[in-house]
Amino acid sequence: MHLHKFEKLWLLSGVGALALFLVILGFGAFYLGTHPQSHGITIDPANIEAEEAFQPENLGLTKVDDDKYIVNVVATAFNYDLGVDEDGNAVKNIKIPKGSTVLFQVVTPDVVHGFNIAGTNVNMMVEPGFISSMEVEMKQSGEFTLLCNEYCGVGHHMMFATVEVYE
Ligand code: CUA
Repeated sequence: MHLHKFEKLWLLSGVGALALFLVILGFGAFYLGTHPQSHGITIDPANIEAEEAFQPENLGLTKVDDDKYIVNVVATAFNYDLGVDEDGNAVKNIKIPKGSTVLFQVVTPDVVHGFNIAGTNVNMMVEPGFISSMEVEMKQSGEFTLLCNEYCGVGHHMMFATVEVYE
C-alpha cells in the first residue's frame, strides 16, 4: 500500500494527538489524583438516614459557627429535600448571609441528579452511593436558582429551589 507523504503526516499527527491526550488524562488521574466531586465518600443509597447528616431533622441549613454553615440535601426525583420549617412546610428557599462559608453535602437515593447554583461556582453531580460535597464562600449577594442539570426523568424541569444570599 502506498501512502502519500501528507497522508502519513496526517495519520501520525492524529495518533500523536490521541497518545498525548491519553498521557495527560493518565497524569491527571493517577499522578494528580483527579476524582469525582464526591471525594469518594460512599453511602448506602438504600439507607441514607444511617448517615446522621441526612436524617430528616438535619436537612437544610445549619449554622455551625460564625459565618459558617452546612447545607445537607437529599436530591430525589424530582425534589430537593431541604428540610421543613416551623410550620412543617417543605423548605424551598435557603437564606445565607453574604461572606459566609457554606459546606454543601448532597446525596440521592435514586438516580443521578445535578446540584447547580446558577451564577456561583457550585456545580456538582449527585450519584447514588456517594456523598457529593463542596465548600464555598458566598461572596455575591442576590437570589440564585438551585437547579438539577442532569436529566433525571419526566419531572427533571421541576427540580429546583432558591438560595438567597443577603447583605
Ligand atoms: Cu434531578 Cu434532573
